[in-house]
Amino acid sequence: MTGRIPEKFVDELLTRIDIVDVIDSRVPLRRAGKDYKACCPFHEEKTPSFTVSQDKQFYHCFGCGAHGSAIGFLMDYEHMSFPEAVEELAGRAGLTVPREAKGASTVPAQSDDLALAGELLARADRYYRRQLREHPQAQEAVAYLKGRGLSGEIAAEFGLGFAPEGWDNLARALGSDPASQQALVAAGLVVKKESGGYYDRFRGRIMFPILDYRGRIVGFGGRVLGQGEPKYLNSPETPLFHKGRELYGLFRARDALRRENRALVVEGYLDVVALAQFGLNYAVATLGTATTRDQLERLFRYAPEVVFCFDGDRAGRDAAWRALGNALPALHEGRQVSFLFLPEGEDPDTLIRKEGLEAFTARLQAAVSLPDYLFQTLAADIDLGRLDGRARLVELARPLLSNVPQGALRELMVARLADISLLAPQKLSKLVEGPLPLTRRSAAVPRSARRDSGGVPSLAQTALALLLQHPRLGRLVGDPQPFLALDGKGIPLLVELMRLLNAQPDLNTGGILERFRDSEYIHHISRLAAREHPMHQQNVEAEFVGLLHRLRCEANRQQIERLSGKERAGGLNSDEKAELVRLLREKQELEHERFVPRP
Ligand code: UTP
Ligand code: MN
Repeated sequence: MTGRIPEKFVDELLTRIDIVDVIDSRVPLRRAGKDYKACCPFHEEKTPSFTVSQDKQFYHCFGCGAHGSAIGFLMDYEHMSFPEAVEELAGRAGLTVPREAKGASTVPAQSDDLALAGELLARADRYYRRQLREHPQAQEAVAYLKGRGLSGEIAAEFGLGFAPEGWDNLARALGSDPASQQALVAAGLVVKKESGGYYDRFRGRIMFPILDYRGRIVGFGGRVLGQGEPKYLNSPETPLFHKGRELYGLFRARDALRRENRALVVEGYLDVVALAQFGLNYAVATLGTATTRDQLERLFRYAPEVVFCFDGDRAGRDAAWRALGNALPALHEGRQVSFLFLPEGEDPDTLIRKEGLEAFTARLQAAVSLPDYLFQTLAADIDLGRLDGRARLVELARPLLSNVPQGALRELMVARLADISLLAPQKLSKLVEGPLPLTRRSAAVPRSARRDSGGVPSLAQTALALLLQHPRLGRLVGDPQPFLALDGKGIPLLVELMRLLNAQPDLNTGGILERFRDSEYIHHISRLAAREHPMHQQNVEAEFVGLLHRLRCEANRQQIERLSGKERAGGLNSDEKAELVRLLREKQELEHERFVPRP
């Protein structure tokens, strides 16, 4: 297919992927405040000035000026074409790239379906939460939660809800016409029967909404009240929901992860909730599967240490070994993984209720490090007193160690293996050959490399920069029409951006840049997007509202001036007179608006 890729799909795609993932898998990033840094892959440098912003979904090098969205990065770094970069990112996100047909008719864009599914999930979430408060059966659910020791506050904080018994509650609440049914099926909320009918997937369950890293609902887990099979039912995999990628509780935990420099991975939703209730806010849970490399990489974005918590039983040990295998390739640059095994029959939920936060945290301190766990486990069934026993250990350890990226940790693990096996370290190093560390591409100069030329930004430039850096501010604009009256070079672009954000309020910085990719403004826009605006987050909204106000006053002043000039020169027709009256009234209104921060 060669049709155009719809702009809306690109918008949606850029809100679904994470530029940090995309870049980090090619150029390993380190966290620096709320951004990520690395030495720039586009020019030679010793200190990192290449910065990736997760909020903005945008990268920028303060050294060479390279910048762009995730798409731009792939184009510059991997030398992909635009459609190739879009295909690559869509593949990662599990989406198919729709193409516009060559003629007038348009293939229904999948991005619309995605947006609709997202909307339905959010509505379902509101519905389930309301049922927990209002449904006649809700007492039973509330009693169950209370019986499990959950406080009302923590249940509300995690957005717990209730799916009542019945086959079509949700469908009746959210829409049972054929189009809605189909959309609900696509969102994983409703199941289609072989015989043709539809029924609600979640019935008679406590609902745990699962949020992605940006806080949007992507799926649900539902627990039966008390006994029943299956105990937990999860949303199926959908284009929005990938169990191997999401982590329960991540969005809520993200600040705590950064603060504590540590993530705790547990097995159950209720473990996360119970730990949070007792004040441990850096726990997340996998979604009923083993921890994947993707999930681990995501956690390492927030914290350098990940502790896995498992039951001490056989199943727990098996799960830990699988987690270890997935963790090995992720162990570069000072990252640490540990394992905490709980006494048999306990899980974090039961344990923290029994012994409290302090004792539980003390257990974390004593978690066994990944290297120790690896060697202990391998050596457990081997007689190291025998030469062939030690050889067997080496054979078992070899493939594991070769999965660890080259670096200090791998050297130290090889040295430890040498100690245990009595084999010379140099010999062992040869045996354990493995992947080379990620090499940086030769310094390619990207198309987009431009120097920032600075200059005192005018009101419009500042408004433009603020909108680019915080596209959410677009919601404060209202009708951009009045600004068009302004004289000034930046005005048409400012108004165009305001209109775009009115139509697409969820665009992020990267998404905006893509919209302007082929525009004459692109260089100007990218430069403004990259400039750090020296302002505290809290002040951004107030500052922006103030700017809008000043721009409107200025527009009003300029229009009045134009009309008065014309009046003096030769008079106004009746339309113009009416307009002047309106403008003078508007002037008074503007002067009376109270929120004007003075410059
Ligand atoms: P557990 O069975 O260990 O339950 O499942 P738990 O978290 O201790 O649950 P409670 O305390 O009895 O309520 C751990 C996790 O495994 C997944 C869920 O993600 C659950 O949180 N799971 C479990 C399922 O997906 N399906 C199931 O039937 C059971
Ligand atoms: Mn439990």
